[in-house]
Amino acid sequence: MKILSAEFLRSCVGPDDYPKDRTPEIAFVGRSNVGKSSLINSLLNRKKLVKVSRTPGKTRAVNFFRVATADPRLKSFYLVDLPGYGYAKASKSVIAEWGPMIEHYLTARPELRAVFLLLDARGTEDHDVSTYAWLCDHVQRPVLVLTKSDKLSRSERGASLAAVREAFRLSEADRCVPYSSVTHEGRDELWQAIRGAIARSEE
Ligand code: GTP
Ligand code: MG
Repeated sequence: MKILSAEFLRSCVGPDDYPKDRTPEIAFVGRSNVGKSSLINSLLNRKKLVKVSRTPGKTRAVNFFRVATADPRLKSFYLVDLPGYGYAKASKSVIAEWGPMIEHYLTARPELRAVFLLLDARGTEDHDVSTYAWLCDHVQRPVLVLTKSDKLSRSERGASLAAVREAFRLSEADRCVPYSSVTHEGRDELWQAIRGAIARSEE
């Protein structure tokens, strides 16, 4: 994907801050430290547009990045980086822990065209499965992305995909994309999914 421009718009802590220009939005959801911010940098071919950290809980607000590509069907849209869940240790429920801010964003944005749920390719937790179920019930079916795939061998990757397909009870039609922000494996496939989601909504 040829990126014409990518810029940080702003960090939002509530609905009043969200952009009001009705531009399509693509959101990235997942556990703290799973690689959401890194994946956005990788998609945009930028090293430091989004802040990345070894310490979980780096992203604390809903961050909007405005993107323009050379693809005439895409025009302009936002990639939305969300804070990770599973950071607070004492977990009551996915949502109580995750925060009303994110729940509100995900359930109240007509601009939201696609949700990517990022999972660590090295292993998922019950929490990931309950977030997946919550997204399917309250938002939309997310595209699953197995991050940090560069940390696995080829055979481990196959096993990881199979384990996720079983744990999340995926059907043939559900997409599950191995991704690495180091090698950019999976980048074309993710762009294809983004393009499809935005183009579908404008038909
Ligand atoms: P929060 O903002 O805390 O929710 O985390 P995040 O999901 O945005 O994760 P972030 O992108 O900040 O990455 C967390 C750590 O994982 C950083 O040290 C990254 O360098 C590392 N990381 C992210 N993606 C990859 C990847 O594809 N491969 C490898 N090897 N490391 C990665
Ligand atoms: Mg982050």
